[in-house]
Amino acid sequence: MSYPDLKDKSVIVTASGNGIGKSSAIEFARHGAKVIVSDIREDLAEATTQAIHEAGGTAKTVIADVTDFDQVKALIDAAVGEYGRLDILMNVAGGAFPMPFDTTPLEVDHNILALNLHSVIYGTKAALPVMLEQGQGVILNTSSGAGIGAVNGLATYGAAKAGTQALSRSIAAEFGKRGIRAVTIAPGAMDTPGLRSWADTLEGGYDAFSAKQPSGRCGTAEEIAKAAVFLASDQASFINGNTIPVDGAIHAILAAPV
Ligand SMILES: NC(=O)c1ccc[n+]([C@@H]2O[C@H](COP(=O)([O-])OP(=O)(O)OC[C@H]3O[C@@H](n4cnc5c(N)ncnc54)[C@H](O)[C@@H]3O)[C@@H](O)[C@H]2O)c1
Repeated sequence: MSYPDLKDKSVIVTASGNGIGKSSAIEFARHGAKVIVSDIREDLAEATTQAIHEAGGTAKTVIADVTDFDQVKALIDAAVGEYGRLDILMNVAGGAFPMPFDTTPLEVDHNILALNLHSVIYGTKAALPVMLEQGQGVILNTSSGAGIGAVNGLATYGAAKAGTQALSRSIAAEFGKRGIRAVTIAPGAMDTPGLRSWADTLEGGYDAFSAKQPSGRCGTAEEIAKAAVFLASDQASFINGNTIPVDGAIHAILAAPV
């Protein structure tokens, strides 16, 4: 068994049809966890579940749109129905649509908030009663460098991602005594299908974008997945309410005075 041992832990990973979610679901399974692979796209989620099965792991697909509370609640219920408990909820679903704030239609701002922040509130609200009843549970949220410092074109996305950090802090403070940990991972620029499709529209494409990063490259989804497994495990038992950048030093650049 790979260390740390998550044998028999029940885990949901949202948006695990692709990118960070997919790598995280596979990594949790590699450490012995029983995984609910969830995405809005059934074909992508099924491919992840298949990959876990082929590697000898345990996984089941549950389709859910994280912007709809009823679907998120059904997702939590499905995990408890399948595995009898829910130890870890990793809220990954989100996405950025870079555009200038002043010309972004309000409807787009609402969609960005729904996908990146309401989804995390929904997941936390639905999972918390189960975890409190168990007296134990970990909620991992996915923020961004844009939730730590300013990134042009990502104002509303940054506000939503900063909100995920605030939510984690509040949940940790309010429910820490009852066995709950809530931790936020703040990825930097990671090589995922979502990031590539945007970076390829820039001058020089993905390769030029990647080379400009402070560590000379984008990160891999697996690098987030490894941090996620550690943070969800008992090895991280006193890490609560924190935001952990996994970003090849982007937070240092964002925090630098201009
Ligand atoms: N890739 C990066 O550089 C980067 C950097 C910082 C933060 N993040 C954050 O990490 C998370 C994952 O990013 P990624 O690049 O791996 O994503 P991605 O774009 O590669 O994949 C996103 C997945 O989310 C699914 N999805 C989209 N809408 C959904 C919905 N409403 N409900 C459920 N699933 C939905 C898609 O089907 C897809 O499988 C996001 O929250 C993103 O904001 C990514």
